[in-house]
Amino acid sequence: MIHLDDITYVRLGTPDLDLAADFATRILGLEVTERGAKSVHLRSDARAHTLCYVEGDPAYQVAGFEVSDAAELAAAAEVLEALGHRVTAGTPGEAAARGAHDFIGFDDPSGNRIELVLRPEYRGPRYYGTRDAAITGFNHIGLNSTDPVRDEIFWTRVCNARVSDRIGTIPLMRINRIHHTLALVRAEGPGIQHINHQVVAREDVLRSWQLLIRHRVPIVFGPGRHPTSGANFIYFRGPDGMVFEYSCGVDEIEDETNHRPRSFSFEPASLCMWGARPGGLIKGT
Ligand SMILES: [Fe+2]
Repeated sequence: MIHLDDITYVRLGTPDLDLAADFATRILGLEVTERGAKSVHLRSDARAHTLCYVEGDPAYQVAGFEVSDAAELAAAAEVLEALGHRVTAGTPGEAAARGAHDFIGFDDPSGNRIELVLRPEYRGPRYYGTRDAAITGFNHIGLNSTDPVRDEIFWTRVCNARVSDRIGTIPLMRINRIHHTLALVRAEGPGIQHINHQVVAREDVLRSWQLLIRHRVPIVFGPGRHPTSGANFIYFRGPDGMVFEYSCGVDEIEDETNHRPRSFSFEPASLCMWGARPGGLIKGT
């Protein structure tokens, strides 16, 4: 089994690097740590970067997950190859571009590009956002799935993900104590469905809501509260159609052994206990 310790970064292609960097700093509140001719690295917590925009096709969307050591990385490559996944080893230059010691890449069963990352770089100075978004860190993603039942089996049996709760066929899965690091959302093809950053408090979600309105950023869903994780949230649309989320107050699973996932019906009320409508965030809602 492949043990994922945490989600590390997302990499997003964009045809307009300046526009993406402007949104990521001025609106989202991230901090630029490295600006190159073809890429911009941004951080949201103690790590050197948690989001990287790369000039190019916006269909390029990659999720990176940290593994514990070189033996785990080598074992993961063996497991994936035995299952028929084509595994590519990162070159030293590619690893350097990810601020990582080493990494491998593969496609999950839906075709999502996944990277397993060894020793991602941390920075001494604390994250200092471009605006006071009160971000505490990059927390989780929604991932497109062309077959959530099949993909849940991949993430829970090949990898160490555990289902914390389900909404219809959407599994909210944890790889550590946090209620979910990964959610699989039915879609026509691969891609990152949303990118979450945690903020300190409900007030920070609401302050950002007002800022998003002032800057005419399309709000997709919320503000509201998830019945599953208990988190307060707001979802909004950034460059190239990517959906970002701020949330706070997400549950942790304290009793790993005895936790039993709850099944919520696939309806808007299962996504927001305050009655906010998902507005097409998830197909069928
Ligand atoms: Fe989320």
